[in-house]
Amino acid sequence: MNFKGNHILSVNQFDREAIERVFNVAHQMLPYAKRRKRTTVLEGAILGNLFFEPSTRTRVSFGTAFNLLGGEVRETTGLSNSALAKGESLYDTARVLSGYSDIIAMRHPDSGSVAEFAEGSRVPVINGGDGANEHPTQALLDLYTIQKELQDHGSSIDGMHIAMIGDLKYGRTVHSLSKLLCLFKNVRFTLISPKELNMPASIIAAIENAGHQYTITDQFEGSVDADICYQTRIQEERFPSQHEANQYRGKFRLNQQIYTKHFQSKTVIMHPLPRDSRAEANELDNDLNLNPNLAIFRQTDNGVLVRMALFALTLGVEDIVAQYDRDIHWHVNI
Ligand code: NCD
Repeated sequence: MNFKGNHILSVNQFDREAIERVFNVAHQMLPYAKRRKRTTVLEGAILGNLFFEPSTRTRVSFGTAFNLLGGEVRETTGLSNSALAKGESLYDTARVLSGYSDIIAMRHPDSGSVAEFAEGSRVPVINGGDGANEHPTQALLDLYTIQKELQDHGSSIDGMHIAMIGDLKYGRTVHSLSKLLCLFKNVRFTLISPKELNMPASIIAAIENAGHQYTITDQFEGSVDADICYQTRIQEERFPSQHEANQYRGKFRLNQQIYTKHFQSKTVIMHPLPRDSRAEANELDNDLNLNPNLAIFRQTDNGVLVRMALFALTLGVEDIVAQYDRDIHWHVNI
């Protein structure tokens, strides 16, 4: 895979070699993310950070990653605040905004919209989530986290067992992660969701074609001897009505007691976040906060490393980051 100057729109673009490349560069970003050093390698470069759908960590971590490489960030948030609300096409918006930026990160509520936007863009576009379709950078940071967590347990992605729980129909993070896992060997999937929110048939077909084993169930049953428990949020914004979304809220909540009953004591708990902590949902209870296997905040930290790596590779500076090192002068507590 050639990163330099190219869009990152889907995990379908990646093979195992490309993933390893991203992970190696991500690892090299640790001293900068931890503020042991800083780099100005992207000094003068501008990221257009266009978030036409709610976001906290994806938007801020894209911006932070770019800043940590020495670049500047221009942000647009919310569909209603942009000229898209006046009927402007994605193509025109892309033509215009790509004249103001060296690279663009974009999130939009419609499947396929980021790819459509990229057709009009004169600079690389990174997909920060397009509707229920894909979320490639989240999948890469999830995979990076899985690899690190399993390494700590002396195991690897090949041969692992992952349980995916919750809204597997509309959850783009599980779609992209499942597709990436199809590049690995002998992965077992346990897919736990209400029947109406099953994983889409196209993803199941990809899992099957990869030769992986999978189980589909609508119950938390017996022991799920998974290495990874990947919990998701009911994607209420993608349901035809709130009423329908409410039916599924809280169906698969996870707390310490449920975790102990169904999982191994070393099962890693993941969630792309935000976790819905309202009482009627409480999908990942606060009583898990002190559980050392709760990896959700390690995921968010890893997101900065992975996004730094993607920017460095796409802008072709991955080998010269250290040439632009500077010391840190302020008090650091990260
Ligand atoms: C996810 C998303 O936006 O798809 N969040 C994220 O990017 N970390 C998952 C979600 O919103 O539930």
